[in-house]
Amino acid sequence: MNITALSAQRNPLKPIVGKVDESAKTKRTLLIVDDEEGPRQALLMLFKNVYHVLLAENGPEAIELARLHSVDAAVLDLRMPGMSGIEVLNHLKKLDPGIEVIILTAYEALETARQALRLGACDYLTKPFEISTMREAVATAMERRSLSNEIKGYNRKLVQLQEDIHNQKLHEEITRGQGEIYASIIHDINGPLTIISGFAELISQSIRNSSRIEGDSLQSVKVRISEILLQVNNCIQISRRYLSFLRGSAGQTTRVSVNQVLSDLRELLKAHSDVQKNSLIIVPMQDEVTAQINGTDLIQVLLNLTINALQSSTQPHQVEIRGRTILEQLSLSSFVDDSEGRVINREGFRNQPPLVAISIEDNGPGISSETLEHIFEPYFTTKPAGQGTGLGLSIVRRLVEQAKGAIHLQTRVGRGTSFTIYLPTREANLNS
Ligand SMILES: Nc1ncnc2c1ncn2[C@@H]1O[C@H](COP(=O)(O)OP(=O)(O)OP(=O)(O)O)[C@@H](O)[C@H]1O
Ligand SMILES: [Mg+2]
Repeated sequence: MNITALSAQRNPLKPIVGKVDESAKTKRTLLIVDDEEGPRQALLMLFKNVYHVLLAENGPEAIELARLHSVDAAVLDLRMPGMSGIEVLNHLKKLDPGIEVIILTAYEALETARQALRLGACDYLTKPFEISTMREAVATAMERRSLSNEIKGYNRKLVQLQEDIHNQKLHEEITRGQGEIYASIIHDINGPLTIISGFAELISQSIRNSSRIEGDSLQSVKVRISEILLQVNNCIQISRRYLSFLRGSAGQTTRVSVNQVLSDLRELLKAHSDVQKNSLIIVPMQDEVTAQINGTDLIQVLLNLTINALQSSTQPHQVEIRGRTILEQLSLSSFVDDSEGRVINREGFRNQPPLVAISIEDNGPGISSETLEHIFEPYFTTKPAGQGTGLGLSIVRRLVEQAKGAIHLQTRVGRGTSFTIYLPTREANLNS
């Protein structure tokens, strides 16, 4: 048996449970709280055909009813023995902030009624009330309740919609990300493959006209075969790194000697067709420095940037790579993003000295401001169809960001371009 039934037994004038519960399904619920029998019954008569009416003689009873039923509006007498109307109002609003409460008060207690308004009541009427005014006040309260319910419903739908859009976007991003990663594997493996085919070509040239290979020729064949093996290994590492990235387990930064990578780069590029036509200068670092980045990643970054620089012009030109240590924090704010410059990863850069800076500088044609806007976007290329995927710089960007490094690009049309990669060093990590 519920509280309405209990109340009905105590007070035969209260609504009968069975009937009330039926109407509760369709009608909105009005709670009347008054310690005086007269106004309580008058209100019941006035509203029983329009609303599902609940009657309470005091505060605790009103709160209990509001706990058991979904009350839309309440008419609340302010002055009751025991729990005050203000306290009841507070409790009702705590149970459901959306309940609309009309305060009933004697004329002398107008100040308390105003206090009730401040506490969230929607209206107040003085006793004795006029029937038409009361009807209007309750109708308005019910209207407000319906409106706020509707708004709540819309809000819920809006949140749901936002969530759906977010999930859909996430799904699209994952799918697009996977496509990009697969394309990147092919792009990155293409570099070592070009080198492998270069070395294979050199081997085939040196053995083409000789029936036997010995002495120096044998030695050079051996060196070239070991280069090929190194590159095959590189391909395997690249695909492994990408696949672990796809599985979400990438990101563990390791470290690598910068001079070792620079000397690997020199060896790798020896057989590259673009090196033969141009001048490639690689200046090792004076000090042995260990950069905080995966070795395969750093070689990928440098290979991409060097090959871009070598391919920037069909005219013979020069590309110079050098590394240096920076012992102070980098003042990134002095590097501007404008028509001749770009900084990548200002936010995520771990600007803790000592840092290592590796620059790749060419005296090629430079980059126009229109092209500069797009060069780090995946699939953006100015190369003829079939010659560039446009993925190189987006891969460089991702790898440098992953290592918490930064890229500073400076270019001058007609003069050339330099890309400087800043990376945290092992020492920086030990200090933190
Ligand atoms: N050193 C540079 N000098 C002039 N332009 C450059 C230089 N480096 C990059 N670019 C421009 O940036 C574009 C995008 O480079 P990115 O490495 O992303 O792709 P790509 O080199 O065109 O293709 P892929 O890397 O597959 O060979 C290039 O097409 C070129 O226009
Ligand atoms: Mg490229």
